[in-house]
Amino acid sequence: MAGLVDNVKRLFTVSLGELNPFRSEENYISVDIGSSTIKVIEARTGTHGLEVLNFGTAPTPSSAIHSNMVTEPDLVADALRELLEHKGIRARKAVTAVPGPAVMIKRVSLPNQSPQETEQAVMREARNFIPEELDNVNLDYQVTSTEMEAEELEVLMAAAKKDIVNSYADTLRLAGLTPVVIDVDYFALDNMYELNYDPLDNQVAALVNIGSRYSSINILKEGRSTFTGDVPVGGRDITEALVRDLGIPADEAERIKLGVAAGDLDEEQVSMALLPAVDALIEEVHYALSFFWTAATDERIDVLYLSGGGAQTPELANRLAERAEAPVEVSDPFGRILIDDEVDVAVLRRRASEFAIAMGLAVRRPVDK
Ligand SMILES: Nc1ncnc2c1ncn2[C@@H]1O[C@H](COP(=O)(O)OP(=O)(O)OP(=O)(O)O)[C@@H](O)[C@H]1O
Ligand SMILES: [Mg+2]
Repeated sequence: MAGLVDNVKRLFTVSLGELNPFRSEENYISVDIGSSTIKVIEARTGTHGLEVLNFGTAPTPSSAIHSNMVTEPDLVADALRELLEHKGIRARKAVTAVPGPAVMIKRVSLPNQSPQETEQAVMREARNFIPEELDNVNLDYQVTSTEMEAEELEVLMAAAKKDIVNSYADTLRLAGLTPVVIDVDYFALDNMYELNYDPLDNQVAALVNIGSRYSSINILKEGRSTFTGDVPVGGRDITEALVRDLGIPADEAERIKLGVAAGDLDEEQVSMALLPAVDALIEEVHYALSFFWTAATDERIDVLYLSGGGAQTPELANRLAERAEAPVEVSDPFGRILIDDEVDVAVLRRRASEFAIAMGLAVRRPVDK
């Protein structure tokens, strides 16, 4: 476990707090604020590894997230505070993520030089690729090369507007939490994968997170991220298609999609409306994957791991497998994670895919900077 934690991505650490690597037993909360659902996990690193102590979800107040930013921090903070109270979560140090679409990501090769020289080179690169004043962005980078003797180092750079990063940090503070790390959801998925899966030699895996308003794609070669992208479609589009095609209200469409109720509709009517929407989403994901295929002509994707609330959409996994001509699995973010006895494991397992990002955030600690 320690090895995995050593490997985690470190981005946007906003506050280093009072660090003490030997006091890692305290509980941390990871908070994934999506446009449809807030997901939280309380976890602790104990002697046997990372352990989930509590978890929960709450609906995100509608229109509180706009353009990848929390535009109504008070409302989201209220919902978050209530959720924590309701679940009896008392930990206060929190790790969260900004949405991938808000983040400018670039991979560069730099000469293998001193850390100071690398930092200067990163700043030069940043001025070229970031279409903003650097004063207005949070920028971070990580050397991803594993070969420290190599002539060139691979460096992953990520930047997001300060306004956006602050909107998430402020939301946590308003909810009474102390943000200690602000990550990027793509990299959290990466860490979720690293915690639970062993990439095979030469294996190319695509992590596809189907959220509500966007879906992200993160392609890993032998476990290392080589491509990230997103498409502006998700579970919300499927619900909207049901509303449009069946002439029903949004809340009913949502319940039908979740299989909770079919109202007066029969199965065939539902699937006639659902399947074209699922296929439209698959086309968008496939289109984004095709950028990877174009850039890496000799590569193929060996396996796709779905996550996010939308991963549970009926027929999505098998139809995507057909379209991408590769096996598709719904990822299990808790596969190798200890779960406290008090946790309602049945609910956690049923909703596991929704917690992929929150689980990836749960490995982040301020000491890893
Ligand atoms: N069992 C299920 N079957 C189908 N869809 C589901 C299921 N559970 C959740 N969803 C859908 O998943 C979506 C929410 O997923 P998620 O929590 O990953 O999104 P989000 O993080 O709130 O949104 P985003 O990241 O796009 O801002 C909603 O559209 C919801 O309808
Ligand atoms: Mg999300």
